[in-house]
Amino acid sequence: MSAVPGPNVILAVSGGIAAYKAAEVASRLVQQGATVDAIMTAGAQEFVRPLTFSALTGRAVHTDAFAPWTERNRGHITLAREADLLLVAPASASALARLAVGLADDLLGAVALSTVAPLVVAPAMEHAMFHHPATQEHLETLRRRGASVVGPERGRLASGAVGDGRLAAVEAIVGTCWAILGRAGALAGRRIVVTAGGTREPLDPVRFLGNRSSGTMGFALSTSARDRGAAVHLVTGPTSLPSPAGITVERVETALEMRSAVEAAVPTADALIMAAAVADFRPATPSAQKLKKGPGDTAPEIQLIRNPDILASVSAPGLVKVGFAAETENLVPNASAKLAAKGLAMIVANDAASTVGSAEISAVILQPNTPPRQLPSMPKSELAGLILDHLLPLLPRRTGDGGDE
Ligand code: C5P
Repeated sequence: MSAVPGPNVILAVSGGIAAYKAAEVASRLVQQGATVDAIMTAGAQEFVRPLTFSALTGRAVHTDAFAPWTERNRGHITLAREADLLLVAPASASALARLAVGLADDLLGAVALSTVAPLVVAPAMEHAMFHHPATQEHLETLRRRGASVVGPERGRLASGAVGDGRLAAVEAIVGTCWAILGRAGALAGRRIVVTAGGTREPLDPVRFLGNRSSGTMGFALSTSARDRGAAVHLVTGPTSLPSPAGITVERVETALEMRSAVEAAVPTADALIMAAAVADFRPATPSAQKLKKGPGDTAPEIQLIRNPDILASVSAPGLVKVGFAAETENLVPNASAKLAAKGLAMIVANDAASTVGSAEISAVILQPNTPPRQLPSMPKSELAGLILDHLLPLLPRRTGDGGDE
């Protein structure tokens, strides 16, 4: 974790059974570097105890609008002033109503009226309450004022009925917060296309040639770029990873589909980062019917043809291209050759055998006319941040980018 202090997030928990899921939201935000101050409404405390949130955040939990002030803590005024973001999760129908109307008769209401921090609400309630015109109008009011609304999802509700009103997934709530917190980051105003995962090349309607890529690296790059303010377009092969919040995600199967998606996305992009493991070859003539094995049949011969090299062939004015080189031998010489052959500004070389599908990665960063930089083994999420740090100075300066312009 970096030494730079993380943002201050107020997590306001209102009354509803989904309050227990807010504990996971608090934990995730803290793990990812935020300082979290929890506020609990009276209703929330009926479901979960304040101790849960103080243990997860390592900070006092605020429950009382009328708690005596101290020298350093002036109640809602201090909370409101120090907040970088106000997240209400779960947001009950009653909390939404009070936020929309602007009531300040509890701590959440007072903080919400006193802060200039962006507001994120994650509603959770029964289907009928969510669809009631009163709730919908309150949500519309909050949206109009600039609030971000995450969820709710459709699914099984506390009553046992299936409907709209489940709290959004923790990843969606936390991802939305980081996307908003990063809006003014170093990549604000930049458009970055990232590819992830492996491609699948069909042999017949049910079989394919594929590889072990999990998509982790490309997804980590996408969320890191988003959290630094970039508008991210992620083109991914099949993966079990959920679509991150605040990112345009396009799911493809084959190398040819990936090429079309990348070609369509790059003309307005500043950078293309190809972390996908694109199949170099595909079956020349995939069978229209499932391949059968009859008694005494010999094994079918499968003829392969070359796939296009997306990274080498794609271009757009000013586009900065970054590639990955997963090698099993002669890492640096092989990666250097690809750097030059594909016209890249940077290539991230790694040992294929130990990296594919794993959470950690030990990589070497290569740039033209620069000595290779060997990096220690680290989580892919951390490497993603380092890659973006290296990418930033390579992006073309733009009018208004500081200096005398
Ligand atoms: O040549 P090699 O496959 O090792 O190059 C790896 C880099 O090229 C990766 O960034 C990969 O995403 C990209 N690539 C591509 N199209 C291919 C094969 C690889 O864009 N057909």
